[in-house]
Amino acid sequence: MKFCVLMASPRPKGNTVELLKPFLAELEYHKSEITYITLSDKDIKPCKGCYTCQNVSDEYGCIQQDDVADIMNEIIACDCVVLATPIYSWYCTAPMKALLDRHFGLNKFYRSAQGSLWEGKKVAIITTHGYDREYGAGPFEIGIKRLCEHSKLKYLGMYSVRDEDDLVSFQTEEAVNGAKAFARKILACEY
Ligand SMILES: Cc1cc2nc3c(=O)[nH]c(=O)nc-3n(C[C@H](O)[C@H](O)[C@H](O)COP(=O)(O)O)c2cc1C
Repeated sequence: MKFCVLMASPRPKGNTVELLKPFLAELEYHKSEITYITLSDKDIKPCKGCYTCQNVSDEYGCIQQDDVADIMNEIIACDCVVLATPIYSWYCTAPMKALLDRHFGLNKFYRSAQGSLWEGKKVAIITTHGYDREYGAGPFEIGIKRLCEHSKLKYLGMYSVRDEDDLVSFQTEEAVNGAKAFARKILACEY
């Protein structure tokens, strides 16, 4: 399976990266192909809401000159998108939110162009948060589930660990084994 991992923490040695380590190691062990993108290194402009992409068929079709078209091409080329983010203000961080808004050009639902450039892709979440899972990460999961339903993507679930003691929280046997098990669960999803 081909993965596109979108990492949205601004901390290159932070909790989310730490939690991703065993997850990625397990995917690699099973010979998965992985494209890893650190979103804070990328130029991701906010959506202008111009709807130009909705009149362009068969390609992403956004007029903005930044890194998003390349990221979208990686999404189009993969089987499974992994949204890896800390929770900031009950949602993902700003670069991921800007990218999610820019998904519009993948869904040709609103003007003359028709169809989808990503229908059927799998989507999974890996997240870290300060509050407990439901209170901290629940709203983000609800938003992503809704996006998947609307865009006809296959939502595979969320693996999350609470930040109770900074990096140490993500290095426990439970956190590491959970991340590996989540990777195996995704690899086993054939639907
Ligand atoms: C600006 C900011 C906003 C945050 N907002 C939330 C929040 O709304 N809910 C929550 O559960 N945790 C929140 N947190 C805690 C982080 O999600 C948590 O510490 C996370 O593990 C940080 O991951 P990182 O080291 O990969 O950046 C926030 C942290 C920061 C710095």
